[in-house]
Amino acid sequence: MKFQIAQAAPQNVKADILVMPIFKDEKIKGGFFEQFDRAAGGRVSAAVSSESFTGKAKESFLIFAPAGVKAARILLVGLGEEEKFDAEQLRIAAGSAGKAASACNAKEIALAARKFGTLAPEICGKAFVEGLALAAYKFVEHKTAEKEKKKTEISGLAFVAAGKADGAKWLKGAAEGEIFANAANFARDLVNHPSNVVTPTMLADTARKIAARHKMKCAVLGTAEARRLGMGAFLAVAKGSDEPAKFITIDYAPRGAKGTVVLVGKGLTFDSGGLSLKTADGMEAMKDDMGGAGAVLGCLKAAAELKIGKRVIGVIGATENMPSGHATKPGDIVKSLGGKTIEIINTDAEGRLVLIDALKYAERYEPDAVIDMATLTGACSVALGPYYSALFGNNQELMDSLKNAAEMAGDKIWQMPMNDDYREMMKSDVADLKNTSGTRNGGTITAAAFLSEFTEKYNWAHIDIAPTAYIGQPWAYIAKGATGVPVRTILNFLKYCAPPKRAQART
Ligand code: BES
Ligand code: MN
Ligand code: ZN
Repeated sequence: MKFQIAQAAPQNVKADILVMPIFKDEKIKGGFFEQFDRAAGGRVSAAVSSESFTGKAKESFLIFAPAGVKAARILLVGLGEEEKFDAEQLRIAAGSAGKAASACNAKEIALAARKFGTLAPEICGKAFVEGLALAAYKFVEHKTAEKEKKKTEISGLAFVAAGKADGAKWLKGAAEGEIFANAANFARDLVNHPSNVVTPTMLADTARKIAARHKMKCAVLGTAEARRLGMGAFLAVAKGSDEPAKFITIDYAPRGAKGTVVLVGKGLTFDSGGLSLKTADGMEAMKDDMGGAGAVLGCLKAAAELKIGKRVIGVIGATENMPSGHATKPGDIVKSLGGKTIEIINTDAEGRLVLIDALKYAERYEPDAVIDMATLTGACSVALGPYYSALFGNNQELMDSLKNAAEMAGDKIWQMPMNDDYREMMKSDVADLKNTSGTRNGGTITAAAFLSEFTEKYNWAHIDIAPTAYIGQPWAYIAKGATGVPVRTILNFLKYCAPPKRAQART
């Protein structure tokens, strides 16, 4: 998307859509809009006085531009109440524009970019572009006719009548917003594709491509190497599948890096449950079980584009979970990386098995923080419904930073409780640990407690994105299907938050 500043009256700007954000009950007369409204033959004030448009949040109203306005359409978008206004409101308003643009194949967008409340222009630019690009996203790769049409994407966005000094700040924010949104949309594509397209091999190739493009190191281990290293938990999951498993690392190490953050992603390209087979109902959605891995890859790509000043390493365990004659059987005991033994009670609790070998592996980087992201438990949706991701960890400062970063992104994340009581529930009679507690109650917490046994050497946070990675009902500016969560949260964390100092005791 090309961004520019247009120092002109909005009525004189050519565009496919001119976006005109308006607060609830905002006065048209005497204010910013009077001249524009007059040029538009009173169509804006008519929409307002007839209550066709009131400026409420999420509201939008399309006017086919009358004579006197150069844009082909005017889109009024509601900003809600001015006192409650924040970046998320602007994202939602931009989302209406993104959807409209997608519906009418608009290429050139113009935004009446005045000052919105007390929000800084950089924040406005970033939020608007995020909302626009996330809402304009469509997954049509496998729809024969629509795939052709998709080529008409939004190509330009002009910020109209932004004050001279503010113009540069709008542009700076917009450029960052585009990287954020593209990273999320990149992850969305990976999650939306079915498991016969996104295989572990394909994830590894994707990591290699990102690494080559941005001069990063990338290593892909096969099962033989994983066996040599002692990744018995990861291999126990991979065993049942004919699709070769891959253990992927991708390393963004800028010169003079200050601090090291490891991002660990669950990369189950399909989770059938294994011999503890899932029911047929909804099993097709288990292509989304690599949502964590997709997010990690999106973050690594964007870390390079944003020129993040920290070392950022992605670690992904990628495999399918399948039943077969050589699949792991309930009751089997395996040895994980580092030597702890695990009794596999339920082969459908496979994500944690993949994660613990990846988390143990992360120790070698002596990181300041490790953040894992995983579509880990159905219980998370039972606890939080379809909007929030769950947050756990062993360092409150790190978790607070992530909450902050999520708030900046408009992502919803909720810290859950976890302590030794839950760790106790994961002790096995015959091995060091078992992979399920034996009760569904507190399933998200016991999963996190299990992971915490492998993260004692560093500051760690865990984000369970089972409810949020792939949604059945659309959110304000995200269509149903893959969401790209928690890519933008992590990017805010990497860019704006300092990780806690290394080697703090777990809480
Ligand atoms: N991938 C699933 C969790 C999941 C469920 C993600 C629904 C997204 C939507 C995970 O591997 C799983 O199957 N978890 C089990 C754990 C249980 C066997 C302890 C679950 O949640 O039922
Ligand atoms: Mn499972
Ligand atoms: Zn799974």
